[in-house]
Amino acid sequence: MPGRSTRPLDFETRQIHAGAVVDSETRSRVTPIYQTAAYVFDSFDDGEERFAGRSAYRAYSRNENPTNAVAGRRIADLEGGVDGIVVASGQAAIASALSALAANGDHILATRSLYEGTREMFRGVLARQGIEFEYVPDDADDAEWASRIRPNTKAVYTETLPNPLGQVVDIERIGRLAHEAGVPLVVDNTVPTPYLWRPIEDGADIVIHSTSKWLSGHASVIGGAIVDAGRFDWAAQAGRFPQLAAAPRPGVPSFVERYGEGAYLAYVRSVIVLEYGPTVPPTSSFLLLHGIETLSVRMDRHVASAQTVAEWLEARPEVAEVHYPGLPSNPFHARAQRYLPAGAGSIVSIELAGGREAARRFIDALELISPMTHIGDVRTLAIHLGSTIHAKLTPEEQAEAGIGPGLIRLSIGLESVRDILDDLDRGLVAAGGADGA
Ligand SMILES: Cc1ncc(COP(=O)(O)O)c(C=O)c1O
Repeated sequence: MPGRSTRPLDFETRQIHAGAVVDSETRSRVTPIYQTAAYVFDSFDDGEERFAGRSAYRAYSRNENPTNAVAGRRIADLEGGVDGIVVASGQAAIASALSALAANGDHILATRSLYEGTREMFRGVLARQGIEFEYVPDDADDAEWASRIRPNTKAVYTETLPNPLGQVVDIERIGRLAHEAGVPLVVDNTVPTPYLWRPIEDGADIVIHSTSKWLSGHASVIGGAIVDAGRFDWAAQAGRFPQLAAAPRPGVPSFVERYGEGAYLAYVRSVIVLEYGPTVPPTSSFLLLHGIETLSVRMDRHVASAQTVAEWLEARPEVAEVHYPGLPSNPFHARAQRYLPAGAGSIVSIELAGGREAARRFIDALELISPMTHIGDVRTLAIHLGSTIHAKLTPEEQAEAGIGPGLIRLSIGLESVRDILDDLDRGLVAAGGADGA
């Protein structure tokens, strides 16, 4: 229509509307909870069409549910991907995304700084399935990266803003190095969310989320998401990815022939999620959608408060080190300014000068801040990592991962900053108490 704007909708608008369709029967404005296991076939032939994936309608909620579909489409839209799917948890998203690429005998190259639960899965269940994981420092030089990628390497895996230390990863460079070797880049973008960083714009091929965190924001659900950028040329790497680029049986088209740019996500949905069944309840997706609607508003406040808190902590004698890339003193600050101009996320980790005993006094003195294992909640959270998430590591392994004896991870919430600082002050006074550190 002449005079009407044709520019794409802004992020703040898409977080509310993308992927939603008004229910045709009821005209419900809010996406309903389709709490159903399965869908009635209109006829014998309709059942056959649905099972063959030739119908617009669904067969079974294990891998296709209308509420879940809206959530998958919305996250894909916000990330700039062609398609997305939501699954039972962030862990399920990682396991499903990688199982679609690698199997027994394959190799995945990962950057060192990753959420410990991910590393646990890599050295645990996925290693037992025969997938070899190798770690490389993300700032290793180009030649070293190239030498580590092998013919059986099926993915390069990283986090944009690693949990818990926030060593901002140069996604553009790692994407280039992966692509030069014919390998896709898989990125966990949980911590910044697509509001602060859209790694597909920097070359990521597959983006993963724990939707339990900031995307939901309310700590009421566990969920995960996989988004496909739709850009990786699977057909050009047919030898590496026959599950996508070769005919599954003679005369049957490959996923690439059938789904084009959506081949990878179609494979995840119709093979991996169908066979493993990491289904997220539609009620969780309903709550997730309500969280996403306010993402930008929450993130602006999360990052503003995190910046204030990090600066305040840096001046405290009880704190030996503050890990927050929004601080000019942080070694990743320049990279944060490049990749995270709207804010460096809301995880602030602190190494207490008094070590483990100071951490015990700090945690036990908190009154407002919740001691718990989670991030991205509206509430401010704190956890001592060495005695919890990283407790299975030896002291040497903890040191290698940058987990000092007094390391506390804070996830800064949306309470008044004054109240957050008052509680942190309470914790730090207690932490410094016994030995004055
Ligand atoms: C960066 C990151 N990725 C993935 C996960 C796993 O997500 P979930 O707890 O939803 O399985 C977490 C959990 O803390 C995380 O921090």
